[in-house]
Amino acid sequence: MASAVEVRDLWWRYSRDTDWVLRGVNLTVREGETVCIVGPTGAGKTTLLSCIQSLLPHSFPLGEMKGSVVVDGADTKSTRAAQLAGRVGMVFEDAESQFVFPSVEDDLAFGLENLNLDREEASERLRVIQEEFGIGELMGRTAAQLSGGQKQRVSIAGLVAVQPKVLLLDEPTSELDPIGKSEVMDLVRKIKTRLGITLVIVEQDLEDVIGLAERFLLLDSGKILLEGEPKDFFGNPEFLLEHGVYPPEVSLVFGPLVKEGLVPTVPLDVSEAKRLVRSR
Ligand SMILES: Nc1ncnc2c1ncn2[C@@H]1O[C@H](COP(=O)(O)OP(=O)(O)OP(=O)(O)O)[C@@H](O)[C@H]1O
Ligand SMILES: [Mg+2]
Repeated sequence: MASAVEVRDLWWRYSRDTDWVLRGVNLTVREGETVCIVGPTGAGKTTLLSCIQSLLPHSFPLGEMKGSVVVDGADTKSTRAAQLAGRVGMVFEDAESQFVFPSVEDDLAFGLENLNLDREEASERLRVIQEEFGIGELMGRTAAQLSGGQKQRVSIAGLVAVQPKVLLLDEPTSELDPIGKSEVMDLVRKIKTRLGITLVIVEQDLEDVIGLAERFLLLDSGKILLEGEPKDFFGNPEFLLEHGVYPPEVSLVFGPLVKEGLVPTVPLDVSEAKRLVRSR
């Protein structure tokens, strides 16, 4: 299958006289795949997403980049930001900062403007996402009249309307209460299953992304230290803890049992744990 994102030996620093924040990152994301990046604070996760989104190097002339990032066939270094906007979109942790216009409706319409769609096509896309994401009743509101979860839902819907190949989500639920969190994660699941968009998610709360991501990567000090499918990735929960990542509870309980040969693998959720224990 074609790759949606190709990161090759990527190095980045925010200024020429400071340390490299990314140190030789390689990452390939296949079309339609969901990849989750985890790592301690300051590891470079947001920086990596910003490179894929092409905010870096374009919006940061003081920095230095080595290596390459190709998104949907376009090299981010040599492609104009407006052209990339149709290929890749990013949802930030801070929902508030993502709104440019007072009303939700104007904000969503603004996102489509770069694409030079005709009026009919633009309003059709807005109609479809309102329906698909159940945000019709929010259209007349201002950002201040939305809950945190609603803000994130509107941001994600607005990016999906642009129909990008790749959607980047940087801790989209970290500022939300449990209800807001589940609202947003339900939406992300919907995007994945119904629309098949390629997703790269940075998330601390791994319980939320288990079952969603096909592959996990551990980034620490600008390097990818571990990469694999969930079964392998969480098979050694102590390694993750050593690198500031809190693995799913169930993997912490079962990790030692696997080591002692009492169960064959680390389960990733409670129902799998039950099955494993019953089959003994
Ligand atoms: N605009 C900037 N200018 C200079 N240094 C920066 C800038 N943004 C981030 N950094 C530095 O780059 C490093 C990586 O930051 P980054 O935000 O990518 O980490 P992160 O893994 O996303 O952390 P967190 O989990 O806290 O969000 C940190 O040392 C940070 O201080
Ligand atoms: Mg970050």
